[in-house]
Amino acid sequence: MTAKQFIVARDNLQQSRFVDVAIPETRELLTDSLLIKVDRFAFTANNITYAMLGDQLKYWSLFPAPNGFGNIPVWGFGDVIASRHPDIPNGERLFGYFPMATHLIIEAADVSKRGLRDAAAHRQGVSPVYNAYTRVGGDAAFAGRAGDYQALLRPLFMLSFLVDDFLAENAFFGARSVMLSSASSKTAFGLAHLLHTQRKPIRVIGLTSRANADYVRSLGCYDDVVAYDEVSSLATDHPAAYVDMAGNGELRAHLHRHFGDRLVYSGRVGLTHQDATDDNAPLPGAKPTWFFAPDQIRKRAREWGPGGIDTRFGAAWANLTPMLERWINLADGRGEAAVQQIYLDTLNGRVKPDQAHMLSLAE
Ligand SMILES: NC(=O)c1ccc[n+]([C@@H]2O[C@H](COP(=O)([O-])OP(=O)(O)OC[C@H]3O[C@@H](n4cnc5c(N)ncnc54)[C@H](OP(=O)(O)O)[C@@H]3O)[C@@H](O)[C@H]2O)c1
Repeated sequence: MTAKQFIVARDNLQQSRFVDVAIPETRELLTDSLLIKVDRFAFTANNITYAMLGDQLKYWSLFPAPNGFGNIPVWGFGDVIASRHPDIPNGERLFGYFPMATHLIIEAADVSKRGLRDAAAHRQGVSPVYNAYTRVGGDAAFAGRAGDYQALLRPLFMLSFLVDDFLAENAFFGARSVMLSSASSKTAFGLAHLLHTQRKPIRVIGLTSRANADYVRSLGCYDDVVAYDEVSSLATDHPAAYVDMAGNGELRAHLHRHFGDRLVYSGRVGLTHQDATDDNAPLPGAKPTWFFAPDQIRKRAREWGPGGIDTRFGAAWANLTPMLERWINLADGRGEAAVQQIYLDTLNGRVKPDQAHMLSLAE
């Protein structure tokens, strides 16, 4: 039996191909191992960032690929088709981190009613969140369209939730407005939605490319929308914060010089503008720093106690989901050609912001 994998050249993400790899028969699986058929997964700019940071943040070690190539991790659903674990039956449906592939073998550990984790040695160098799988069979919140939204947005919205919480906890560092770059991205509009609905009178300013400005305005969660080539027009008569999804060094430098000491927070979150050059010259205003989600999770887990994050995140998620049908058009892509096309379109910035893709290589 073979599995199909979609792999990309680590040093040139424009190069990609499919490979077939042998997978063992059920009787050959090691004790506690599960053979999972990957059913469907979401693909957004965030997955491209995983590839860009594959070496640095060890994403490439999660799903081994032939030398020089990497298998990009994706969030999605898989079904157990062969189990050597006594508490996981065939047919169990799991939500979690998968390779862009038809199959995955994991070593199930810490199995509970809610989930399990992959204990494979090569996966232990990353944050535990990437090795956790949720048992979602029979859970309506993870079925059909609702499930697609979970795969597409839940991991992104967790970041939005944590940044909103971090900024509020720090009284916005004195800022009266928050600017978000790549405002059309799902991570940015999730954060904008939280700020807009919960943090008035903080103003939420979306920075985006000219082509995406109308879409960003239509969302209704930004007080102002400004194209990248117009940021010099931003009023600087108040302290402002910047949350950077684009990772564009030139834009960052421009904003720092424009606001000077009135830029009171500059947090880096993403790298959507992959071809942008980085400007590492010292900048006026707050020092740009990467926002590190696991730190905020650990802090809140301590302070809020068991279930504290889940309860609050669950409430925020419930408040977001009614917006999604209006904000996003879901499209299904199935098979090798579709997967490669959406990968290249996403890599090269050709996906319209209202489009969201669920993909599958399953036969
Ligand atoms: N640090 C973390 O833990 C964490 C967690 C979640 C997400 N993030 C990051 O947040 C960013 C947004 O992710 P997402 O999945 O929400 O994105 P998305 O919805 O797929 O974002 C699409 C938008 O990103 C910009 N973009 C995408 N590809 C581009 C390209 N090749 N060239 C120029 N612009 C491009 C465009 O926005 P504009 O025209 O508006 O610029 C586009 O409308 C990613 O970099 C992701 O890694 C980080």
